[in-house]
Amino acid sequence: MAQDPKYDLPTYTPTARGLHWLVALLIFVQLPVGFYMSYRGNDMPSVDANGKPTVGVWDALTNFLYSSHKLIGLTVLALVLLRLIYRLTRGAPRSDPSVPPPLTGLSHLVHWALYLLLIAVPVLGYLAISYGDYLDVFNFRLPMLTVKNEDMSKEIFEWHETGAILIIGFVALHIVAAIYHRFIRKDRVVERMIPKRVA
Ligand code: HEM
Ligand code: HEM
Repeated sequence: MAQDPKYDLPTYTPTARGLHWLVALLIFVQLPVGFYMSYRGNDMPSVDANGKPTVGVWDALTNFLYSSHKLIGLTVLALVLLRLIYRLTRGAPRSDPSVPPPLTGLSHLVHWALYLLLIAVPVLGYLAISYGDYLDVFNFRLPMLTVKNEDMSKEIFEWHETGAILIIGFVALHIVAAIYHRFIRKDRVVERMIPKRVA
């Protein structure tokens, strides 16, 4: 693992950091897009062609958001798979020895839960659109992986949403931990992912 010479601290390699921050950025875009497009397409109050009140708007913006969500989600899946292969073959820098072992154990649990969810949630998203036959992404059509089954699609969308909510929970815990390390415990854990510039 790369060494930060100024602090004699083992940090994550530039590749591990690059993948971490790219996936983090995509997740921060993907979650609000997911909730908003679903509200817009299914629940947003509107009026139909006869002027009668209805819910859900399927216009160019809704379609754009759905296509973007599918594309970003599949990109996250590809990046996380790459990152997992890299992590399993290259390992991670040893944990900060000043951190009590139960906290280190808890952080590892959160990291592996995030890896699992970042794979399960996009896979469930793909399965749901395959069962529902909602495979359009901009001008492309993704391959259908299953037979058409509306009930299965609905059920899997529920799991997809639950998985996304779990991601929010674990990411919140992860960010609270980063704030605790940086500002309360004032140790070097966050520097492993954001190394200080060496003059
Ligand atoms: C890490 C990746 C992903 C995250 C965090 C994520 C998150 C979300 C969230 C928060 C929602 C809104 C849930 C709701 O209000 O019902 C949603 C809905 C949806 N997601 Fe994803 N998603 C991801 C990947 C994918 C992928 C790869 C696909 C398909 C290729 C996909 C397809 C959909 C669709 C079609 C909906 C709308 C469901 C509806 O209209 O009821 N998602 N997603
Ligand atoms: C403001 C946002 C974030 C901060 C400050 C942050 C900070 C960090 C830090 C400091 C580490 C290294 C911890 C250690 O060495 O013990 C780490 C690791 C990790 N982070 Fe984040 N992170 C953020 C957002 C995210 C997001 C959004 C995700 C994914 C959804 C994520 C997933 C992970 C994973 C899976 C690891 C484990 C890396 C490994 O050892 O393989 N992080 N993060």
